[in-house]
Amino acid sequence: MCGIVGYIGKENPISILIQGLKDLEYRGYDSAGIALKNKDNIQIIKSIGKITNLQEKCQNTNLISSNIGIAHTRWATHGAPSKINAHPHKVGKTTIVHNGIIENAALLKEQLVKEGIKFNSDTDTEVIAALINKYYKNDPIKAIEKATSELVGSYALAILFDDKEKLYAIRKDSPLIVGIKDNAFFVASDITAIINYTKNYVLLEENEIAEMTQNHISYYYQDKEITKKVLTADIKSEAKDKNGYEHYMLKEIMEEPLILENTLKPYLKNLDLLPNLKDYEEIHIVACGSAMYAGMVGKTLLEERAQVKVFCECASEYRYKNVIYDCKTLVILISQSGETADTIAAMRNAHSKNIDTLAIVNVKTSTIAREAKMHLFIEAGPEIAVATTKAYILQVALMALLAFKIAYDKKIIKDTKILADLQKAPCLIKEILENRKLYLKIAKEIYQSTNIFFIGRKVDYAIALEGSLKLKEVSYIHSEAYQAGELKHGTISLIDEKVPVFAIITDKQIEEKTLSNVEEVKSRGAKVIVITNNKNITNYPDIIYVPKINEFFQSLLVVPTLQLIAYETAKLRGCDIDKPKNLAKSVTVE
Ligand code: G6P
Repeated sequence: MCGIVGYIGKENPISILIQGLKDLEYRGYDSAGIALKNKDNIQIIKSIGKITNLQEKCQNTNLISSNIGIAHTRWATHGAPSKINAHPHKVGKTTIVHNGIIENAALLKEQLVKEGIKFNSDTDTEVIAALINKYYKNDPIKAIEKATSELVGSYALAILFDDKEKLYAIRKDSPLIVGIKDNAFFVASDITAIINYTKNYVLLEENEIAEMTQNHISYYYQDKEITKKVLTADIKSEAKDKNGYEHYMLKEIMEEPLILENTLKPYLKNLDLLPNLKDYEEIHIVACGSAMYAGMVGKTLLEERAQVKVFCECASEYRYKNVIYDCKTLVILISQSGETADTIAAMRNAHSKNIDTLAIVNVKTSTIAREAKMHLFIEAGPEIAVATTKAYILQVALMALLAFKIAYDKKIIKDTKILADLQKAPCLIKEILENRKLYLKIAKEIYQSTNIFFIGRKVDYAIALEGSLKLKEVSYIHSEAYQAGELKHGTISLIDEKVPVFAIITDKQIEEKTLSNVEEVKSRGAKVIVITNNKNITNYPDIIYVPKINEFFQSLLVVPTLQLIAYETAKLRGCDIDKPKNLAKSVTVE
């Protein structure tokens, strides 16, 4: 949510900053801006919309010669997306870009206005700039520390002062790293923005400040100089390319067989590499968006097949609930980014009550990966498309594997033979992905609809939730997922011949029940599309058959069909598939 990039070194920063912003565009894309600095001047350029607009504007502007700059791509929180609200914000000698949200901004602003400060924007960021500037008496570290101590909320900041040839960075509850190169330093919300220049980076902990000149970096915490460890990122710069695919979403779906195989391989060889969870009496799965829907699949499998009591809830609710922990409980946090604000808060609440946590996470350097008591890495590589696909399927796979392991450890399942089905899943998914013509055909049938339903029962319902979310977020068609049996309690009034209904039927035990619900919507005119693993279901014009494998892993074969239908539908509708409107990939605010 909002992307930051900064540079100080020997080069002119403009191309580094613009490329960095493009790499961070998945974090927000309603406006962008850049500040360039030299001894005499700070030049600020802003524009509405995508980074290409900012790039064009920079190309048509007489830019100052400079070797220090900060830049920002915005996902609006305080104040509408507009040029005036775009970052950077400058107050007096202080220029900043900010990711996060300041909860006491209104209060601080009121005080600053009383002191005579005039504000131009509606942003909380301008308040931070004003506060730092108020305390700036030629000692940047003191000013940054004093100002940030008054902030309530989250912030990652890159800061310039008119009279210092230096770049400053600080963070709390929002990600920010410092990139290290000979005679150059970078700051970035995410390593992908600077990976073309360096793989060496430093993780700033809460409220640590980095002070950078062209050839020196110092770190401070509570006004004392500290030392920091330089880490090396293990991602390849090519990982962020589209590899010839038209969209990142498609590229990332197509990567699913390979990453699934690579991630699962060590666990399939040795199940003991997975954490031992069999002694937990209760498991709470907490996450947001698609990650929570992966948790819903996990909940069904854990309850049904491993006999564990499970609660699954979105983190934004869970964090504010009076959760009763009255038995040995584990909280599982699922997150691609590892930076989702609500999921972090839920994790910290659990820690404050001495509850064990397990993170299923993709970004290894993220807050959740670092703070959770145990972690399992998804190993999906960088996921750039805003709508998650490959990370989601891996979350489902790891939840299924954990459920299997608990069932096995509890001796509910006596041998590991069924893992052979998980082993062959990548290959089967590859074949499913090759069937693109079928998904395009279905997309052509639904892309002009205004309402679409997804129905299923139990694990099929959990998968329906993700199918529906994927479709609506990339194609902007309203869609809802329903427990197949619940539709008749009101919602069936919306069904007519204009409403397509996807029915997911893979659970043999309740297949007949779902088929009855399918008949109910069919007889009200709905156009039904069945996705099933049962070749005996034949009497529907649109059926997608997926191979039948063990129930633990069956959902993995349905996921790619739904993802590709969403993709093809969005494409037919001419949507901005990788950057759907109003969304951001990493939601670092509440
Ligand atoms: C955003 C993304 C979703 C994602 C959710 C949770 O809304 O657009 O695709 O599922 O955040 O993100 P996380 O990084 O915690 O998995």
